[in-house]
Amino acid sequence: MALLPILEVPDPRLREKSTVVEVFDDNLQHLIDDMFETMYKAPGIGLAAIQVGVAKRLLVIDLQQPEEGGEAKRNPMVFINPELTPEGEEKRLYNEGCLSVPDQYAEVRRPSVINAKWQDRDGNFHEERIEGLLATCLQHEMDHLEGILFIDHLSRLKRGMLMKKLLKERKLREDSY
Ligand code: NI
Repeated sequence: MALLPILEVPDPRLREKSTVVEVFDDNLQHLIDDMFETMYKAPGIGLAAIQVGVAKRLLVIDLQQPEEGGEAKRNPMVFINPELTPEGEEKRLYNEGCLSVPDQYAEVRRPSVINAKWQDRDGNFHEERIEGLLATCLQHEMDHLEGILFIDHLSRLKRGMLMKKLLKERKLREDSY
């Protein structure tokens, strides 16, 4: 397994539309394993293939939610060629971040409940009703497949402030080397 470099804004590749995964071969299995390793190391709870420069409709997610009274437990999930349909009108507000928009967070409102269809790493089809943090995370990652970032859901003013802060922090980091 290998750590992959994560693309960060304003890299134009993050704006690409990802294409359907048709071949479930060894290369795909390696990519998935590398994406998990990269996501855990970052650390993050979700990663889309385009964030490591591969424009394929592939997401990995692990919310690593603690079991009751216990420690965080790994629960790796793979979503290939996902299709999401919101169910009902209810919305959920969550303070989102993104490995491609480092150290920046903002509240985004998304549908609370979605119907999700996807394929797993072996190409098997699944369909499930999903809610809570997983629904939020899936919709955030799904956006990446369309070249959309969570900051696109903010007002122009808020997005501008956040990008300014990001570039300033990046410059401070670079200057300190
Ligand atoms: Ni993201």
